Formats: sequence, structure tokens, C-alpha cells
Amino acid sequence: MKRVSDERVLVFDFGSQYAQLIARRIREQQVYCEIVRHTVSAARIRELAPRGLILSGAAASVYEPGAPVCDPEIFQLGIPVLGICYGMQLACQALGGSVQSAPAREYGRALCHVLAENQLLSGLPREMQVWMSHGDQVTSVSGDFVALAETSTCPIAAVKHRGMPIYGLQFHPEVTHTPYGAAILANFVNRVCSCSGRWKLGDFAAETIREIRDRVADRRVICGLSGGVDSSVVAALLSQAIGSQLSCILVDNGFLRKREADRVIEEFTNHFKTDLHVVHAEEKFLAALAGVVNPQEKRRRIGHAFIECFAGEAKRIPGARFLAQGTLYPDVIESGGLPDGPAVTIKLHHNVGGLPENLDFELIEPLRDLFKDEVRKLGFQLGLPEDIVWRHPFPGPGLAVRCVGEVAKPRLETLREADAIVLEEIKAAGLYRKVSQAFAVLLPVQSVGVMGDARTYEDVVAVRCIETEDFMTADWSRLPYDLLARISTRIINEVPGVNRVVYDTSSKPPATIEWE
Ligand code: XMP
Repeated sequence: MKRVSDERVLVFDFGSQYAQLIARRIREQQVYCEIVRHTVSAARIRELAPRGLILSGAAASVYEPGAPVCDPEIFQLGIPVLGICYGMQLACQALGGSVQSAPAREYGRALCHVLAENQLLSGLPREMQVWMSHGDQVTSVSGDFVALAETSTCPIAAVKHRGMPIYGLQFHPEVTHTPYGAAILANFVNRVCSCSGRWKLGDFAAETIREIRDRVADRRVICGLSGGVDSSVVAALLSQAIGSQLSCILVDNGFLRKREADRVIEEFTNHFKTDLHVVHAEEKFLAALAGVVNPQEKRRRIGHAFIECFAGEAKRIPGARFLAQGTLYPDVIESGGLPDGPAVTIKLHHNVGGLPENLDFELIEPLRDLFKDEVRKLGFQLGLPEDIVWRHPFPGPGLAVRCVGEVAKPRLETLREADAIVLEEIKAAGLYRKVSQAFAVLLPVQSVGVMGDARTYEDVVAVRCIETEDFMTADWSRLPYDLLARISTRIINEVPGVNRVVYDTSSKPPATIEWE
């Protein structure tokens, strides 16, 4: 593990959907936090010398055969431990408590009463709302423990070991439904673990820039730009670190949004003065997709064409030794790519921007310790404009997977215009940040309409707007009807060939965010 900060807290991941959220909440306290496998040995933990350990929740029951466990020796290291939900049950069980199935599984809000003065719940109201999500609970603890809080159905909602700095919470402090959750986690890192909270993104940027300079020396780095926030932040960071030794490549596949390529070109040539190579490959990509309607086949062909364009351009940049990529911490942990990191592969990655390993570059991944929200903050610090920093995610294959059916130039033009209207109106309504992704989809369907006195038979555009924390699940946005009306009217009036607009009211799952 890289030494990003000498003061850090480790989250043991027992397979909780919340492990990443816990890590982010700790970082919000300006304490560096990483996620590790639950199997990491106590000896390794001693070597890593964290200030505190947090044991996450899990989908399992502690008494189920095969339930994930941790090395019991970690409780003997003298390092403060906070067990959350399953993590609490595990800690209590390891130290002499008993855990049973709760009489009623408890999900949702509960009122929690603080029973005893203690560092973890210090400064909080005696009664507070918390979020429960468990089937088991600790029913009795040995005399070594003291209950710190209770709810009406859970007599031990918070617990502390009498002799060791080991705490447990049956509820989830990391979710926003526990309003004092951040204060509880702050108490844990500041009071219990005595962290000073010095980890700052500003220091991270300065340190990373130094590291890049040392590593690159006088050699050249190539960075692929997509217009998205991650690659833009990487390029901005490198531009500050090594200036003219950076060459960026933007492959314009013809599937970008309206004015997107121009926006990127302007930012990285006028503002950052980067050596930017734009590969105009619209015709090549269109030819590759001729007659193709299958979404996976579209992705495969686009991926293939992208690699050809990128590698071809990279060859024209003499002396390039390094390739910079915008890999983020969730990508690293989700692919199980760290020796101490969790082994689970949560997400199926379908990033067609991926490059083959045989390109013969050394990789530079300066964002691999950061979460998305931290990347955004870093982007601002580096001077990137708001519209790049807050840009919604956009799939590598771009408009090609939003043009359902065959992709041809006129259909792309129709889609691009409709899509621009969706974004313009959402921005004008002040909802761009609230919504996680908003776009138009051109359907391979014509419908009958009437314009003036004439009957029309034209295309249908679907509008998709979703809200999500992590893009693994998503809900459709309840946009105001007036806004939907403006979007619809404008598309039908301004985009030739479209006479009908529909709004997509499907959640993920079972639908996906993209239509293809
Ligand atoms: P789905 O449609 O799977 O999308 O719910 C989840 C997120 O991934 C994005 N997405 C892609 N990104 N290449 C990408 O780089 C792709 O092929 C691709 N397909 C979907 C999608 O926009 C959403 O943010």
C-alpha cells in the first residue's frame, strides 16, 4: 500500500454494500481511509500501523457456516476498533458475547437512547434517530462489555469493551438516515483513535505532482482524453506536473455530444496549453458500425476502432514512455486489484476506453486512491471549469449506444440535437447536479403525427433521467411536468424528423441506465 498519509484508518470489508461509503465518510473527516480484505492478518495490520479499524457490515450471519471472519488477533493489537452491524456482532462474539437472530428483523429508522457517557457518542443528544438494517443482533455481552445505547427492539444498539478501545454499533452511522452518523464517526476517528484530521486533498495534489515529476523525469507521458471528469483531472494534474512533456490524445469517434469535442479542445489547448492530438475518426467508426444493430457488437467494434486510433496516434508521439489513466479507487477495489484490497468483483466493467496491456507503456494512475467526489474537488483545485468537473458520466461508445438500432450519420445528428435540448433544459431548471445522468435516446420506431394539416410519420425520442449514488442501482428522476413539457415541445419543434417524445420511467434494476 502506498503511503498516502501516515495517519489512516482501515475498513475491513465483509461484503457490505456500505464499505465504500464508510471509507468516504472517514475521508470526509480528513482522515485517510482504505478498504482491506477481511482476511488480512493481524501481523499485516501491525505492519500497516493504522490509527483505527472499522469492521463493516455484511450480508451474512455471524453464526452461519462460512460467514466471513477476521483474524481474532486484530482485537489484541491495541488499535481502536469500531464494529458496525455485522462488524459489531463479530467483535462481540470474538470477545465473549452472544449473537442471535433478532425476534423481528429490523430495517429502517429507530429511536436510539444513549445509556452511558462515552467517547463514541460524546456531544450527541441523548435521543437520536438511527438507521437499522439487520436480521441478527447481539443479545448478551460478557461482563467485559457495557451497553452504550438501546432502541425499543434492540437492547444493545451500541457497545464498548471495558478494558480495550473496542466499540460496536448495531445501526449504520455511515448512511444519511442516521443524522448524527457523521458526528459518531468523527468521534471515533478524533477522540477514540486520536487522529488529527490533517489529510487534505490540497496536500494530495502537491504530493502527487512531486511524485509524478520524480518518476517521469525528462520523459514523455501520453494521456487519453474523453471529455469526462476523470481523464480531464488526470490531464490537468499531469499538465501541472510536467507541462510540455505531456501529450494528450482525443479520439473523436463521431459519437460525442454536441460541442463536446470543441469544449475539450478549447480547455486543453487554450487553458492548459497541452500538446493535444485530436484524431478525427468519425468516418472510420461509422464504417465499422455499418449494418450493426447488436449493442455488444457495437461496443466490441467501437472498442477495437478506438484502440487502433489511439495506438496509431501514440506511435506518432516520439519518446513516449508512460500512459496516464483515470483509474479511481472504486475501480481498483472492485477489480480486487490490491494485495490487501477486497477480493470481490462487484462491477462488470464495460469501459471500452480500456487499452490492451501490450501497448508497452508504464502506467501512471494518479487518481487510484480517490473517490469520485474527491476527484471533483481536485478538479476544482486544479482550475478545471465547473462544466467539466460536474459533467455527468458518458459511456465510451457514446451516442452509438443511444441510437437504438443501426447507427448512421443522419440519425446521429437527430439524436445529438435532441440530447443537447435535454441537457440545456435540465441545466436551465437548475437540476443538472441533482440528476446523475440525463440524455436522449433515438428509438428505431416511427409514429404517426400531425403537423399543420399534414400527417407525419417520424422518429420517436425517449428522454432518460436518473438519480443514483453509485450507478449500480438507479431511480428515474421525478422531473417537474413543466420541464418535461418544455423538453418535449422543443425537441418536436426544433429537431427535424421527430414528432414524438416519451419519458423513460424505469428503474435500475431491472432496466439498465443505457438502453443498449
Ligand atoms: P448501465 O446502462 O449498465 O450503465 O446501467 C451504468 C453506467 O455505465 C455507463 N456505461 C458505460 N460506460 N462504456 C462506458 O464507458 C460503456 O460501454 C458503457 N455502458 C454503460 C452508463 O452510462 C452508466 O453511467
